Amino acid sequence: MAQPLPVHDDLSDFAAAVRNGLAQPQKVIPARFFYDHAGSELFEAITALPEYYPTRTEIGILTEQAPAIAAAVGPGRAVIEFGSGSSAKTPLLLRAIAPAAYVPVDISAEFLHLAAAGLAADFPGLPVVPVAADFTRPFRVPAGIAALPRLGFFPGSTLGNLAPAAAVDLLRGFAATLGADSWLVIGIDLAPGPAKPQAMLEAAYDDAQGITAAFNANLLHRVNRELGGDIDVAGFVHRAVWNANLGRIEMHLVARRDMVFRAAGCDFSMASGESIHTENSYKWTLEQAWLLARAAGWTPAAVWTDADARFSLHLWQRGAGVMQP
Ligand code: AVJ
Repeated sequence: MAQPLPVHDDLSDFAAAVRNGLAQPQKVIPARFFYDHAGSELFEAITALPEYYPTRTEIGILTEQAPAIAAAVGPGRAVIEFGSGSSAKTPLLLRAIAPAAYVPVDISAEFLHLAAAGLAADFPGLPVVPVAADFTRPFRVPAGIAALPRLGFFPGSTLGNLAPAAAVDLLRGFAATLGADSWLVIGIDLAPGPAKPQAMLEAAYDDAQGITAAFNANLLHRVNRELGGDIDVAGFVHRAVWNANLGRIEMHLVARRDMVFRAAGCDFSMASGESIHTENSYKWTLEQAWLLARAAGWTPAAVWTDADARFSLHLWQRGAGVMQP
């Protein structure tokens, strides 16, 4: 197995983000910092929660539609998975499409290598070439892969963390990385609808067992562990709310009382009821998803949802780069 490309140490990135984010009028810590070891394990637990419909719904759609994807894209492609994590959904795709290689891309080198080794064992003869990189930034496609036609795989509605402009930028970046005549399979969680009331959405981000609350609070534990913080984590309560105007679930950590704390070498104070905004999870309609694709240089080829229209799986094709009228 090839060595992954080196990943830069993001500790100073974390310190800068906490320093700047907590100095804003609306305090914020970016959601990408959820995923240390503890956070990654809590997220895996979230995906199995009864309230968290996205994972199992997407797996259902992918299981059913993998043959249709295979028929459209053909065999012999390098599958590049952006933010591969545990690669739990990957076998469903790889089994159907006769790929030439698998390239998992993840910032967590630890999870990346575990997942890559597992995949390689399950698919003997398939070259598995992990890349430890932040997929939101341009990265080098490994040399052995460069000549192969590509299929991007971006399941899990990870796109939901990005505001519209950043989502379009990311999807344009994927188009550049994947090259001409490539395809993208992307999972996008859907906005509320007839069989998807707002309460169901909010419950998915505020489960009865409190796993999502622990996932959110881990961000503060991580500040304490890694940035010399002295935050009283028990002084915060988890909140998840649907922001209808902006089409997103927001997660916050709300201060139960006035407090002062140190973090990343700075002093901060918060009033009772003030919050730290920790995540946006945008939800899109099918029409909005179509426009995201077109705005980013992709042509929608197929879209599938579950029977209750809670989650969507899209197959997009990259334009061939020929002249248009
Ligand atoms: C990994 C961004 C898709 O937004 O549903 C789950 C993260 N946060 N529960 C999502 C998350 C709280 C998840 N994504």
